[in-house]
Amino acid sequence: MNLRIKGGPEQNIPLKEGQSVLDALKAAEIYLTASCGGKGTCGKCRIKLIEGRARTDGAAKLTLEERESGLALACRTFAEEDIVIDIPENSRIVVGDKIAVSRAKDLLGLVSSMGGSVSPAVSGARVELVPPTIGDHTSDLDRLRLALEPLGLKGLNFSRDFLSGLGEALRTVNWQACLRHAGGSAVSLMPAGDCGKNKKFGAAVDIGTTTIVVYLVELETGKLIDAGSTYNSQIRYGDDVITRIVHATEGGGLDELRETALQDINGLMNATAQRHGIKTSDIELTVISGNTTMSHLFWGLPPGSIREEPYVPAVSYFPLLKGAEAGLSMNRSGAVYTMPCIASYVGGDIVSGVLASGMTRKEEIALFMDIGTNGEVAVGNNEWLMTAACSAGPCFEGSGIRHGMRATEGAIESVKITPGMGVEIGVIGNNQAKRVSARGICGSGMIDAISELFLKGIIDRKGKFVPRADAPAAGAGSIRQGDWGPEFVLFEGPSGAVTLTGVDIENILRAKAAIYAGVSTLIKEVGLDLGAIEKVYIAGGFGNYLNVEKAVILGMLPDIPREKFVFLGNTSITGAYLGLVSEGFLREAEEIASKMTYLELSVSPGFMEEYMSALFLPHTDSSQFPTVERLLEGR
Ligand code: FES
Repeated sequence: MNLRIKGGPEQNIPLKEGQSVLDALKAAEIYLTASCGGKGTCGKCRIKLIEGRARTDGAAKLTLEERESGLALACRTFAEEDIVIDIPENSRIVVGDKIAVSRAKDLLGLVSSMGGSVSPAVSGARVELVPPTIGDHTSDLDRLRLALEPLGLKGLNFSRDFLSGLGEALRTVNWQACLRHAGGSAVSLMPAGDCGKNKKFGAAVDIGTTTIVVYLVELETGKLIDAGSTYNSQIRYGDDVITRIVHATEGGGLDELRETALQDINGLMNATAQRHGIKTSDIELTVISGNTTMSHLFWGLPPGSIREEPYVPAVSYFPLLKGAEAGLSMNRSGAVYTMPCIASYVGGDIVSGVLASGMTRKEEIALFMDIGTNGEVAVGNNEWLMTAACSAGPCFEGSGIRHGMRATEGAIESVKITPGMGVEIGVIGNNQAKRVSARGICGSGMIDAISELFLKGIIDRKGKFVPRADAPAAGAGSIRQGDWGPEFVLFEGPSGAVTLTGVDIENILRAKAAIYAGVSTLIKEVGLDLGAIEKVYIAGGFGNYLNVEKAVILGMLPDIPREKFVFLGNTSITGAYLGLVSEGFLREAEEIASKMTYLELSVSPGFMEEYMSALFLPHTDSSQFPTVERLLEGR
């Protein structure tokens, strides 16, 4: 049997007996959004059956109208003869899609403000070798070792890759060389006169569950040469770390997942280097920052134990890798450093984030919140540090939300409800020059929408819709009965409506409750209250677009003076950058990891109670949200 895509290339995609359309497309390298990894529960992998007979199930995620129009879930569609399908735009993942990079404004300024200096873990040493003669048969390597001894570089390791070019390199530089080395291993040889002059480069890499970011940096100066980012193509196997762990362990897809992320990283390293005429062999150091699952997958380590009680990862402190071992587009003997992880769900990205925030250098007690695909928090100062993972899930990135999507073009990112139930929306990419219609709603839009619905009395404290006589009968602002119960229409256009359903609101309340309960449990665990927190550092791609006021009304962020909140953007990449340009920061990251105490919230007494109380808007204990209560009184 074969499958063809309407309007696509005249290509017949083979379909095996019992193979789902999703799997057949994957095999042909055509990827659909598959948030649940093909379990039939997310409803995102939609296709339209145009011709041919197929068995479909999982209809619970499609309305009757949608099914009648031919829509089906690719992961639950099994052809019974040759079929022709159409793939709606929303279902497709464009691999290699570029996404916006949130760059720290002044990276070098950050280094000096933290009292650091540019001093990367790769450095050069001038060596003068005695040239061989007919009477002196000492090998090239022994000759090099002898020259290195007086420089304190005894015992340096030499990779096969380095040795394969050694003889020629020594003769080319006429036995006077600059030896580049990192982490106790030789990296490269260049003419002695070029020591400190010839430009060498490094890459800081953030492997996020959703996005991958690469900074290409000049090592000698710490200057950011270029940055690139892309969606982590692993999303084709599921949106969250759990579905990927399942794919790696039960689905035998460990190598596939490692390769997928590696291709993304190498694509970005190659592209950024090429743009500036830089040879990738001149990239001599890479620092990887990612959550525990992403780090394990990058290393090709089985991640199964991460999700099984007692939730212990295979590795917390990763040894140094060579560029060739890692498979990265860089010098094969170059060094690859992986930020240390704390626990199964608190990884190197959080260590990087805490490093970049500088909170462990001050006496004041600070809270660090990374609101990304999962939600991790840390509290502490220069003396102590405690951390927890909130299991908020990826709903703020669109997963599990009827019209949820990531913060890309067409996503509703802001919502205002005007008197008379009018709806004003802000859509990413829509401006004077270009008209972009709303296709879905992203995390910041969800927070805006729910806090507005609550403040305007359209939903109650439990997030349930309140009947409104002034609501329009149809279109934006109306509350209608959908296939999954009541829903609020945010936008209605020729290509369909974007709504927020009662179920969406429940899911968002669960996520915000997990984050708030994580914060309050952690703070109570260390014997403090929110009043003791002097700074709240908010990180994560999502953190860039977060409206603090609205997030407080939702009850996700604590109701404390707003000047205490500091937005840091993507701190995983900032921390990786710091580690790249200064070995001192790498050591500091290790210290942070060693002093961070992990609190397992799932067994922490009190977490469930905090979570249940936080499921309400903004919270069952109104004294915790005084400014929100005042707003409600005055409405
Ligand atoms: Fe098909 Fe989730 S419903 S991948």
